[in-house]
Amino acid sequence: MIYRPVKCGGSGHASRLILHCEAVSLETLAERFGTPLYVYSANIIRERTRTFDAAFSKAPHTVCYSVKANSNLGILRLLAGMKCGFDVVSGGELERVLRVDRKLARRVVFSGVGKTPDEMQTALKANILLFNVESESELHSLAKCAARAKKTARIALRVNPDVPAETHPYIATGLHQHKFGVPIADAVRLYAQAAQAEHLNIAGVSVHIGSQITDVRPFAAAMERVAELVRKLRAQGHAITYVDAGGGLGIGYGDGEQGNFSRQAASYAEAVLAPLRGLDVHLLLEPGRCIVGPSGVLLTRVLYRKANNGKKFLVVDAAMNDLLRPSLYGAYHEIVPVCTSQSASRETVDVVGPICESGDFLARDRELPPAQEGDLLAILDTGAYGMALSSNYNTRPRPAEILVDRKSVKVIRRRESTQDLLRLES
Ligand code: LLP
Repeated sequence: MIYRPVKCGGSGHASRLILHCEAVSLETLAERFGTPLYVYSANIIRERTRTFDAAFSKAPHTVCYSVKANSNLGILRLLAGMKCGFDVVSGGELERVLRVDRKLARRVVFSGVGKTPDEMQTALKANILLFNVESESELHSLAKCAARAKKTARIALRVNPDVPAETHPYIATGLHQHKFGVPIADAVRLYAQAAQAEHLNIAGVSVHIGSQITDVRPFAAAMERVAELVRKLRAQGHAITYVDAGGGLGIGYGDGEQGNFSRQAASYAEAVLAPLRGLDVHLLLEPGRCIVGPSGVLLTRVLYRKANNGKKFLVVDAAMNDLLRPSLYGAYHEIVPVCTSQSASRETVDVVGPICESGDFLARDRELPPAQEGDLLAILDTGAYGMALSSNYNTRPRPAEILVDRKSVKVIRRRESTQDLLRLES
């Protein structure tokens, strides 16, 4: 446990337990940088990246971290240092990776259903590893862009395997009713078309069935279908070097549910690798959440306690604009006090933000140790899709982001000011 309570302030009654990130007190960080505040542990990210990578050690592979989960340059730099590649879904995300190091382009895969010609040009110029093409129209558009740029685009078609996976409906992607990929039944015809285009180079097959999937069987089912397609395509003379397995491995968000990541990664790896055995492909993996999710906490301070007809609320200084997951997906994030008293008592509260929407909550009907105005709370497992999904709704400046590496503390994004928000308007 890198986030853990540490006894502070002498012995006996005077001592308190204060939650730390690595060697740094979260109370000190909140005092120094204010709240709401995102804090990430560099060593959790390193450890999970190493564990994930090791699970695939038997097969040639590249871990292409999914930038959308947390796109902070400080985090991308950390992962680049661990030899990760990157999965991007926009020109903006590509720009972030290139900002870290232009040479990283050779480890970039570009996914997404709506790539614009401008984004394609930039990616072609940077010479990225692979375009994951998601429709027939996109195939034509990319062929045109590549011809115009006198470049060759290495491509994989993202196939939609029509495999159900148990997750929130907004983040399932592998069924025919979803907008993603091309029906696997159309793939052979589309690969034949792609082979005709002078500036397209068929390099692989790609798939992604959704996010926050904790049962590994759907991954295996999708891979079975991909493996069958790879055999068919090779029989028709296409050179399939890469299989991109996408991302999606879920994490535990509940109380102490993080479990054993090396076991989870190993069983995920087995599900993905078993169907591919004997195919001699280079595997690309696009994990996001399982790398950065558990590394982050969102620190928030209680502004007010209130009760409406007996229903108790903690109004805190973080809101749905800082952390959207509870409002958007009904997602559960564990909330713990930063400073723990020894009291065993509990109360049931809604933890809500200052935004003018009833949907602005961080937890509903949650049993928490009684918190007073001014107390600090930590919202756990917010390293993925926390800051990345944040907005300026209600003209709220976004939190700062801090990267802790043992004793070292780095501001990897300063807190926005209202001036920052107004700068683009006239
Ligand atoms: N590859 C592709 C093509 C994706 O669309 C995604 C996620 C990933 C990889 C990374 O998936 P991960 O390993 O992180 O599950 N905002 C939602 C999650 C949306 C995921 C979108 N695509 C949430 O907060 O739960």
